[in-house]
Amino acid sequence: LHIVVLMGGWSAERAVSLLSGAGVADALETLGHRVTRIDMGRDVALRLAEAKPDLVFNALHGTPGEDGSVQGMLDVMGLRYTHSGLATSVIAIDKQLTKQALVPHGVPMPGGRIVRSEELFARDPLPRPYVLKPVNEGSSVGVAIVTDASNYGNPIGPDAKGPWSEFGELLAEPFIRGRELTTAVLGQTALGVTELKPKAGFYDYEAKYTDGLTEHVYPADIPDDIAQACEAIAVEAHRLLGCRGASRSDFRWDDERGIDGLFLLEVNTQPGMTPLSLVPEQARHRGMSYAELVQAIVDEAMA
Ligand code: DAL
Ligand code: MG
Repeated sequence: LHIVVLMGGWSAERAVSLLSGAGVADALETLGHRVTRIDMGRDVALRLAEAKPDLVFNALHGTPGEDGSVQGMLDVMGLRYTHSGLATSVIAIDKQLTKQALVPHGVPMPGGRIVRSEELFARDPLPRPYVLKPVNEGSSVGVAIVTDASNYGNPIGPDAKGPWSEFGELLAEPFIRGRELTTAVLGQTALGVTELKPKAGFYDYEAKYTDGLTEHVYPADIPDDIAQACEAIAVEAHRLLGCRGASRSDFRWDDERGIDGLFLLEVNTQPGMTPLSLVPEQARHRGMSYAELVQAIVDEAMA
């Protein structure tokens, strides 16, 4: 096949996407496909029209490659592409819309509310500790955990400096103490549960992409009912949202509360494919090489 690997772009996760894209493109070449690498600029439609690929492998993260915009462009151009389609992407990129879509179906997610960043200058939106995050970024870009001892501004006031100051609107969620878990879904199959144990602080951008800063425990050392619940919720969320290709569901589990302490945080429709990323790692634990994973994603898109 002639496959365009779409990567880069201008989101906050540009660097991550270039790593994902390079890995995918190399794998596709070893699989014998003809590959055109496109680092997405504003002329992307023109370049795709020239390339006339059989398939676009979407290796973008964040806006506009994960939020439905690129998916809509590809739909209009009549090009096949990997991973989720337009409607799924619009919902899944937005952590609040995802709650509105999944909670009515019984998927446990933390309560949250949208706050304007000016509101934060006046008062805490929730009792501390709580988490502030942009509704539509990935890789923990812009995420802050506000604790009593937080130096993000104490109390939050007009002089407070925090990662939120660049985002107009933020999602505030109660902080869930305990553990960080994740489950990939490929097709309709969950690939197990990994626990992420950052050596310091939380599983932020640096901990995600610096080798050695986070221990990945697979299978996670958790009770069977929690592991089964993670897998069942990840498969159900993938199905309810209409995901295609691979997705990855991220969880927090308060291990003092048993099954009632398990919460889905979000579903990633364009999960990372870098050397430290979790979907390829879980696939490998299930006996599937990186190249076989890439081929499986291609096969689903071509079916
Ligand atoms: N947002 C990053 C790429 C991930 O979910 O893996
Ligand atoms: Mg994410």
